[in-house]
Amino acid sequence: MRKPIIAGNWKMNKAAAEATLLANGIKRDLFDVGNVEIVLCPPFTSLSLVGDVIQDTPISLGAQNMHWEKEGAFTGELSAAMLKEAGCKYVIIGHSERRAYFGETNESVNKKVKAALREGLVPIVCVGEKLEDRESGKAFDVVSEHVEKGLEGLGESEAVKIVIAYEPVWAIGTGKTASAAQAEEIHKFIRELLSKKYGKKTSESICIQYGGSVKPDNIKELMTEIDIDGALVGGASLKEESFVAMVKEVSEL
Ligand code: 13P
Repeated sequence: MRKPIIAGNWKMNKAAAEATLLANGIKRDLFDVGNVEIVLCPPFTSLSLVGDVIQDTPISLGAQNMHWEKEGAFTGELSAAMLKEAGCKYVIIGHSERRAYFGETNESVNKKVKAALREGLVPIVCVGEKLEDRESGKAFDVVSEHVEKGLEGLGESEAVKIVIAYEPVWAIGTGKTASAAQAEEIHKFIRELLSKKYGKKTSESICIQYGGSVKPDNIKELMTEIDIDGALVGGASLKEESFVAMVKEVSEL
């Protein structure tokens, strides 16, 4: 059985005071939830603060991006080791906003995934098609390319350590969630790709999250699908009430 992972991607929200407040609220409400892996991904400047709040709880810390090099002249970047030092267990890689606004490519995603694994971080590898891809019948091709190229060169022993997040771009921040059936269709397809690459057993151990307008009132329907193993949540993770409600919905399934 795959343990569901509910991760809050706070994006460029929550500076120190607000981040501390939100993390404290989540800790108070969820410290005893054992059957769901809870991950908070604040912006870089709030990582250590949130890390301090959730220290000694089952709640984990994640970053939203990293560079693949160990160190050097890369102004504005952070290495995997720096994230590890700040207390991170997870790092989101290849989010569609980074692909769209900051030139992230399948090749850079691949380098980052490998660097994260080398440092013992769990990469949450984001894949997903744009609206025009879906409308022109290319959703499967795009997702397949994201998976194939993003994971290129990874062996089975590395693949078991990753998390994949399927985030259709048209569903992010739009209020338009993929239906549970639409999401499951792609999740199943991703698991089949993983099965071809790494074997059935490994593919069945890899957690595939869904992301895109996940909220307390739709998380249950999504999570009851067989290949949906959690959620990567943006907007609804920014409020204690909605984040806690989603985790509780999933913990009661
Ligand atoms: P929303 O939940 O705001 O649609 O964002 C999803 C997302 O991009 C999570 O990484």
